[in-house]
Amino acid sequence: MNIAVIGTGYVGLVGGTCFAEMGNQVTCVDIDVDKVTTLQNGRLTIYEPGLEVFFERGIRENRLTFTTDLADALEPADVVFLALPTPPAEDGSADLQYVLGVADHIGQLLAANPHWGYKVLVDKSTVPVGTAARVTAAVEAHGLASGVHFDVVSNPEFLREGAAVEDFMKPERVVIGTSSPRAAETMHRLYQPFVRSGNPIILMDEASAEMTKYAANALLATKITFMNEIANLCDRVGADVDHVRRGIGTDSRIGPKFLYAGIGFGGSCFPKDVQALHRTAREEGYEFRILKSVLDVNEDQKKTLVPPVLDTLADARGRLDGRRIAVWGLAFKPHTDDVREAPAHVLIREFVSRGAEVVAFDPEAIETTRATFAREPLAGTGTLRYAESAYAAASGADALIVATEWPEFRRPDLGRVRESMRTPLVFDGRNVFEPAQMVEAGFAYRSIGRPTPEACTLDAETSAPLAPEALSSFTISETGVLTLP
Ligand SMILES: NC(=O)c1ccc[n+]([C@@H]2O[C@H](COP(=O)([O-])OP(=O)(O)OC[C@H]3O[C@@H](n4cnc5c(N)ncnc54)[C@H](O)[C@@H]3O)[C@@H](O)[C@H]2O)c1
Repeated sequence: MNIAVIGTGYVGLVGGTCFAEMGNQVTCVDIDVDKVTTLQNGRLTIYEPGLEVFFERGIRENRLTFTTDLADALEPADVVFLALPTPPAEDGSADLQYVLGVADHIGQLLAANPHWGYKVLVDKSTVPVGTAARVTAAVEAHGLASGVHFDVVSNPEFLREGAAVEDFMKPERVVIGTSSPRAAETMHRLYQPFVRSGNPIILMDEASAEMTKYAANALLATKITFMNEIANLCDRVGADVDHVRRGIGTDSRIGPKFLYAGIGFGGSCFPKDVQALHRTAREEGYEFRILKSVLDVNEDQKKTLVPPVLDTLADARGRLDGRRIAVWGLAFKPHTDDVREAPAHVLIREFVSRGAEVVAFDPEAIETTRATFAREPLAGTGTLRYAESAYAAASGADALIVATEWPEFRRPDLGRVRESMRTPLVFDGRNVFEPAQMVEAGFAYRSIGRPTPEACTLDAETSAPLAPEALSSFTISETGVLTLP
């Protein structure tokens, strides 16, 4: 099939590349000239595991091309995907200017070229209920000749950044929202090779498909937030959220995923989608209270490590002048370079505003962080610099914050980290370490929702961690096995 993908960001580039890998002829369009030039030169513009091989093959075999010219891509296309940004507007609703702007342009081109044939226009962006109808209206507004046929389909995308290629190639389900049998048949044909193992293609109306995407993201964000609140309570009552997670995750009605407590969710989807759904509800006169709570709790959760850091390192005025803080992880989650709404950035802004010297490391997200802070500069008297490795970041630091659970942060040489730090203080925002292991390694350690063994307490006089001999008299292993001494 011939496919046009309009918008070549995380979704458009992954989707376009994967459609090409499946043998389709794909043209990706973007208005960002630099991005298109980079892609035309065979270089990727995002980091996504597994993308490079398909990308290079698609280009080499001439199935994948890039352009800034919408008309070039639209003319031969059977299916046209709109993978455009839908950022939050001032009032929290999804800003549809990009989607409707492109729909308008498509309408102009189709009106001027009635011989281009039938097109399926697909809303791939996450868009509020009613958008398929608005896209249809924007195209039809150009007074199309009677021979021009098109249908608008809602086909929300469920890929996870960091596993986007795998998710796109083997989706757990494909949701197709359309009332047109012709469009449904085309979409079915396009997606059939992606669901050969039997995962369903679920056909529904446009509005239900649009709602399905928001419902999925809002439920996942709620699940994470619920667990973060359980963790906050565990901290207060002395329970361990990791045990609670295993205890409830084995219940098939709950399931084991999205139960990991931490310093809040970020990314380009959950925050804006929860906000947009809340706004949609409000526009309909319905107060979706749980969503407001999810957003509020998550904002607080991103800063949950600030008070303990200040308690330990700040002066009486709450300043961190002269303190060096290492941050491991900048991306909003591992395996991506995406830093949109990343909790690490919230912490860095806070520490720099209080005068700290922040030294950060991330395996993939340093360049995207640089670009973000160039656009929206840090305020305050502190500084931020980037280290070449996790060890280099920790060296000389008064505290180490783990903000993203990259695998390489899970099993570092703790002795080396401990030796190189000025004060062996670790705030683990993603619970990547075991508290007992950290005590043994000589750190003062704090994580999210897990009791800190007494031995981790920092000696107020010497700033050194207390001796680890007072570990409890029994241990409970990862799998929950109790070992007596
Ligand atoms: N990123 C994800 O994990 C993910 C997952 C599922 C759904 N979504 C949704 O998919 C949509 C796209 O998300 P994304 O993360 O790929 O966004 P993105 O910002 O990474 O990419 C959007 C691209 O569209 C381009 N663009 C803007 N206006 C254009 C125009 N007029 N013509 C051509 N190109 C134009 C931009 O230059 C950019 O390259 C959003 O609605 C998002 O909510 C994203």
